[in-house]
Amino acid sequence: MIRYIYSDQLFSANVASALAESFVRVVNERGRATVALTGGSTPRPVYQMLASHPLITKSVWQKLIFFLGDERLVSLDSPQSNYRMVKESLIDPLRTKNIDLRCLTIDLSSTDLCRDYEVSVVSELNQGIIDLLLLGMGEDGHVASLFPESSLLQESSSQEVSSHEKRTFFGIARHPSDGTKRISLLTKPLIEAREVHFLVAGAKKAEMVRRVFHTDSIVLRDSMVLDIPARIAMNMRGVVQWHLDQSAAG
Ligand code: 6PG
Repeated sequence: MIRYIYSDQLFSANVASALAESFVRVVNERGRATVALTGGSTPRPVYQMLASHPLITKSVWQKLIFFLGDERLVSLDSPQSNYRMVKESLIDPLRTKNIDLRCLTIDLSSTDLCRDYEVSVVSELNQGIIDLLLLGMGEDGHVASLFPESSLLQESSSQEVSSHEKRTFFGIARHPSDGTKRISLLTKPLIEAREVHFLVAGAKKAEMVRRVFHTDSIVLRDSMVLDIPARIAMNMRGVVQWHLDQSAAG
């Protein structure tokens, strides 16, 4: 696991460059690749810079398949929608350059959101594994929409669904304070992703960043991840990179 620390002012530009290099490399290696995008506010300027990054050619964009790792269950044009943030910061700017970005969206009218979104995403994955996973981290240590003490964080995390099948890829969560429903990747796809980039910026995250890294356990017990979901990074099998600005790094 590698930690990169950038000045606050140059955080977004540096992260955009690191991601651009990853996009190009993973397309060169695999021919096509899937990218799980994070929501929230931190990534917006990063996505804006990615859209105009000179390293990413039209042919690379067209070999990447994007989807959101978690999404609020609101209309896609709601200010709360992560898809709307991605559309405004990445999709639309590319469209003005006649580049079509392929981003799988959630059909909110679906009677079984997790199943339908899972089918559309998993069918695009290389051997069922996410190639590039982008994650943020909340001040409470949540990642995607896996909040502390959430039942979705149990080791064999799966979610009972209407047909009593076990879902192991996406689950439905509720935000602990505002109660909004969200769909989120579960722990299994996070742990299995080939390459993971955490994007964490701002002084408000510094205490949680310290707690995440201040654990001497090599393999974390479930309880330690239940308490701070971002600690799942220590159990990830892929290449994990943390991109921090100076304020978050403390
Ligand atoms: C979401 C995100 C969430 C986010 C963190 C950090 O839907 O909100 O997926 O996991 O990454 O809450 O958000 P900020 O970048 O806004 O601090």
